[in-house]
Amino acid sequence: MPLPPPGPDAHVLVTGASSGIGAAIARTLAARGYPTVLVARREEALVELARELRAVSGLTAEVRVADLGADAGRDTVREVVLTDERVVGVVNAAGYGITGRVLDLADDDGRAALDGLVRLNVQALHDLTVAAVGALVRRARTTARTGAILNVSSITAFQPLPGVASYAASKAFVQSFSEAVHAELAGSGVSLTTLSPGLTRTGFADAADTDAFDRAPDLVVGDAADVAEAGVAAMAAGHRSVVPGLVNQLSAAGGRLAPRTLLLPAVNAAMDWFGGAGRLE
Ligand SMILES: NC(=O)c1ccc[n+]([C@@H]2O[C@H](COP(=O)([O-])OP(=O)(O)OC[C@H]3O[C@@H](n4cnc5c(N)ncnc54)[C@H](OP(=O)(O)O)[C@@H]3O)[C@@H](O)[C@H]2O)c1
Repeated sequence: MPLPPPGPDAHVLVTGASSGIGAAIARTLAARGYPTVLVARREEALVELARELRAVSGLTAEVRVADLGADAGRDTVREVVLTDERVVGVVNAAGYGITGRVLDLADDDGRAALDGLVRLNVQALHDLTVAAVGALVRRARTTARTGAILNVSSITAFQPLPGVASYAASKAFVQSFSEAVHAELAGSGVSLTTLSPGLTRTGFADAADTDAFDRAPDLVVGDAADVAEAGVAAMAAGHRSVVPGLVNQLSAAGGRLAPRTLLLPAVNAAMDWFGGAGRLE
């Protein structure tokens, strides 16, 4: 079991903990008996969640306000992972996306938003994963206590997607990088699990300024608590990857196998369904 047994000094650091899937993962970990370190930019939301987790579990829940899209924020959180010897798990859930064709996002505002996406979804996740691998393997060697990392990807990782090109590519990076490192860590006492959800009800609709989730059939829109449970269970077991839900598993398999010559024009034609440019979590 790469995530060691719960206990008062078995802390799990969770980024993106102020809402959605990250918050649900923090709740799932606390329910299993793990103290948490909650990371995001919105202090009020983190403080409220920390209060809730302490009340429900009786465990500590610490708040670290940090902008992971900025060097200073990444440095702060990396330092916690490297130096806080209580940390046995790291969850990289912070992320956002942009909808819209790249041509429509080629102005200054669009480029800044896409740049921010790459810095958060790719650079921050990569940086914190590298730090966590080093710190957790060192702790596993010196204390014989195992460690675990959970990286949140997406079913958009499994094929190129016109209309969300940068977001899907960022998640393809997360998926490829994380699965490779999972293999590298074999026998180290530390595991890296990739969680690839499909559409999930979170802060998405507001942030993306889209009603796409409302228009999607209930069958294809998941619940953050279910996604979190699947991710934490896979993390605790040290699995390589998990795609929660049968519909998403079929979509991921289809995305991997579909001939690009058929898939890309079809998705390109269908992208207007998403309703133009916006943020996509
Ligand atoms: N919802 C879906 O349909 C879906 C599907 C597949 C994968 N995902 C992935 O799931 C993860 C969580 O997304 P969500 O759906 O739960 O959306 P969400 O509710 O909007 O949560 C996004 C989280 O990321 C944090 N975040 C954003 N920018 C940040 C920054 N610069 N620095 C630090 N934290 C930042 C936000 O906190 P602050 O704003 O407080 O900083 C928030 O806690 C993302 O990686 C997303 O790509 C979501």
